Parts: sequence; structure tokens; C-alpha cells
Amino acid sequence: MLDKIDILKKEVSGCVIVTIEELEDFRLKYLSKKGLLSQLLKDFKTIPTDQKKLVGQKINELKQYAFQFYTSAQTKLNDKKSSAPSIDYTMPPEPLKTGSRHPISIVRKEIFTIFSRIGFTVSEGPEIEDDWHVFSGLNFPKEHPARDMQDTFFINKDPDHLLRTHTSSVQIRVMEASSPPIRKIFPGRVFRNEAISARSHCIFHQVEGLYIDTNVSFADLKQTLLYFSKEFFGPSTQILLRPSFFPFTEPSAELDISCSICGGSGCTVCKYTGFVEILGCGMVDPYVLEASNIDSEIYTGFAFGMGIERITMLKYQINDIRYFFENDIRFLNQFS
Ligand code: PHE
Repeated sequence: MLDKIDILKKEVSGCVIVTIEELEDFRLKYLSKKGLLSQLLKDFKTIPTDQKKLVGQKINELKQYAFQFYTSAQTKLNDKKSSAPSIDYTMPPEPLKTGSRHPISIVRKEIFTIFSRIGFTVSEGPEIEDDWHVFSGLNFPKEHPARDMQDTFFINKDPDHLLRTHTSSVQIRVMEASSPPIRKIFPGRVFRNEAISARSHCIFHQVEGLYIDTNVSFADLKQTLLYFSKEFFGPSTQILLRPSFFPFTEPSAELDISCSICGGSGCTVCKYTGFVEILGCGMVDPYVLEASNIDSEIYTGFAFGMGIERITMLKYQINDIRYFFENDIRFLNQFS
């Protein structure tokens, strides 16, 4: 028994503890309930009484020694841990992740820049509108089928409140509040009760343009749109004006640009026609001018309105409008 105690003591004193795992192994091997010291105490019961005093003393010594060994190794490990720097100050810092502008913001800003060069300034109007500013003031008669072109989200009947279906409502507000010359663009969100798909959404952005002065002609409209198309889509862009209808413009037209993807040779985006539609436009109808107290005998003007998502999709070759609203970081990061 005494030999066994001696051997164990030597074993303990020869232990090297450098890691937390080694410390725990030591505890389990010697000090735990099933450890070697407990085993020794069990054997102690079986030894003859006359040896008990000496053996008991030796076991106690060993026990104390092993505990001391354990606690001093533990303290050393703790000291090491707290004095070690938790951060390596010599490491190069991780680059800061900066956000990026949303593609709609990028394009809206670009539109502002292009139009500001020819004297346009920006105005905004409310998203919650009334029938007058969205329809009646723009010459949509009460039962006119043109109202069906724009599926509307109605909020209240009386007083009538609805979500604007186009930014043409801001035309009316600006004409009511100021007098010509007016040369403005109106960006903003619009709302239509439409099924959401890759090509259409119930919320999107438009930018409207309005120019009212003496002697404003269709040629001015055409030149302004040609200038914008070349600035935005590239200098080789061609435009095509097709006759169309809007209740608030006369004559009215839709503007196509030569397909920025295939350059006009034909692809799936332009459906092999070489041209894609980007906006509606026309000369402001005299009725609309008069309804906003502008003398249509003196003044003429043009207006146009385009979907910002639409031209962004064409410019950046994005094939699904829903990307703009999902805030998927993998999509947004491409615009940083
Ligand atoms: N408001 C029209 C639309 O949303 C576009 C337009 C604006 C047409 C101005 C003519 C003049 O489709």
C-alpha cells in the first residue's frame, strides 16, 4: 500500500498541465469520485488496523499534494488567459462594409441631373390624393373608360381619398399653385391595383415632366425626349414616337427607344421589334390648362411620364421588377 502511494505521488508530481483540457483530465484521473485517490481510500478500509495510522497519514499527504498541484496549475492557467490579449492588434482591420444606393435612387438622381442641365427643377406631391388631382382635373370624365386603364386603390368615398395611380396629379398641383413659365419634373411612388408579376407591381415609381410657357411646341417635346434618351441610354439611342391617347394630352404619344440590349437588331426584350416603349407624353390639353387657371390662348405646354423601374430594368438588364422591392443584399450589392 505504501509503495502504491509513493508511485502515485511520483506520477502526480511528473504531470505537466498546460491546457484546460489537461487540467480537466488531471482532475478526472486523480481527484474525482471515481479517481485514483478515491480508489486508494476504498483500499484503505481493507488494510490491517496497526498500519492504518501510517497509511492514513500518507494518503492524506498525497491528497493534499494532489489538490495543491491542481489548484496551482489552475491559477497559472487563469493568469495566462487573462493576461493574453483577446485581440491581435497587429491584424489588418476587416474592411468596413458600406451600404450602396438602391438602383431606383441611382436612376432617379441621374434623371434629375440630366433634366437639371436643361433647366428643370424638382417638385413633389402627396401619395394620397383625391379624384380631382388624379382624374377629373386631368380631363378623365366620370364614366370615361380611360379610368379603367388605371386600377385604383380607393381609400374613402366621401371625402374621396385614393392612392395616386400616376404622378400626373402633381402637374395639377403645380399648375394650381404657380404660373408659367413652369419647367419641372415630379418623381414619386404610384400605386395600382395590379397582380404582382415579373413585369408589373402594385407599387412603382414614376417621374413626370411638365413644361409650360409661350410657344412650346411638339418639336420641343420631341427634342427634350431625344436629349434625355441619348443622355440616359447612350448617344447612339434612337427614338420613335407613336400616336397614343391620354385624356390630359392632345396630341398624345408613346415613346419607344431603340433596344439598348440588342442595339435594334432584335432580341427577347424588344420582342424582335428593335424598339421598347419607355414613356407616355403629349401636349397638355387646353382643358387641363384652363381647369388650373392657365390661359390656354397664351400658353402651351408638354408633359411626359415614365416608370423609373422600367428604364432601370432596361439600362441594367434586370428581368424581374420584384427585385427592386425585396431588398436582397445580393441584388443591391451589385450597385455599390
Ligand atoms: N400619366 C401617364 C401614365 O401613367 C403617363 C403620361 C404622363 C402621359 C404625362 C402623358 C403625359 O401612364
